[in-house]
Amino acid sequence: MEEKEISQAVISRLPRYFRYLGELKDEGVERISSQELSELMKVTASQIRQDFNNFGGFGQQGYGYNVEYLYKEIGKILGLDEKHNFIIIGAGNLGQALGNYLNFERRGFIFRGMFDKNPALVGKDVRGVKVMPMEEMERFVKENDIDIAVLTIPKSGAEEVAERLVANGIRAIWNFAHVDLNVPEGIQVENVHLSDSLMKLSYNIGCYKREKDKA
Ligand code: NAI
Repeated sequence: MEEKEISQAVISRLPRYFRYLGELKDEGVERISSQELSELMKVTASQIRQDFNNFGGFGQQGYGYNVEYLYKEIGKILGLDEKHNFIIIGAGNLGQALGNYLNFERRGFIFRGMFDKNPALVGKDVRGVKVMPMEEMERFVKENDIDIAVLTIPKSGAEEVAERLVANGIRAIWNFAHVDLNVPEGIQVENVHLSDSLMKLSYNIGCYKREKDKA
């Protein structure tokens, strides 16, 4: 497939396509038109066609899209045909919840290690992974081909930990700490703030109430 620059807006829609196509595949659906996919996903058919055109289209006139093929191709674009080893820094509530989530493995993200500065947590078993002390983090990252680190620590320590991770070969950080990390070019950071979704909900509840009050 020809490689070209794809906008982040398109990339951010791909996981959703991937999820829907995975479900269709599991239900035994072999092909689907952009119109049908559009109704299912509540996005316009032209948006779907435009998005898929970024990768050469995938579709055939009068046939629609081959679900399995499209699922695999989008998976490849997202790099899900490769395995990614990840570690979690911060073995508290959030870190443990993520470590216990099995579905990451299904997508090729392999939970390899967990670290915490609290000695009371060292040795704790989280789905077969023992929490290790922070002093072991650098060596572990280098020896175990780890490319993603999940940061579930408070913002006060996040910058220093991120620097240590990057210096030892981490290429991507899934950052739950409430701070914008300064990382060198080429290091990928994905910030997750769950409360952003809640605030959107809160806004939309407010809108709905205001509309109802007007009526
Ligand atoms: P928690 O207090 O249960 O766990 C934090 C863990 O990090 C503790 O075990 C602590 O010992 C460890 N830790 C603290 N500083 C460290 C450092 N410098 N190096 C290594 N380990 C360190 O907290 P919880 O609920 O798991 O949340 C973790 C962090 O994530 C909090 O700072 C919270 O604000 C943030 N958070 C972010 C969310 C988001 O959507 N972005 C959602 C929930 C929490």
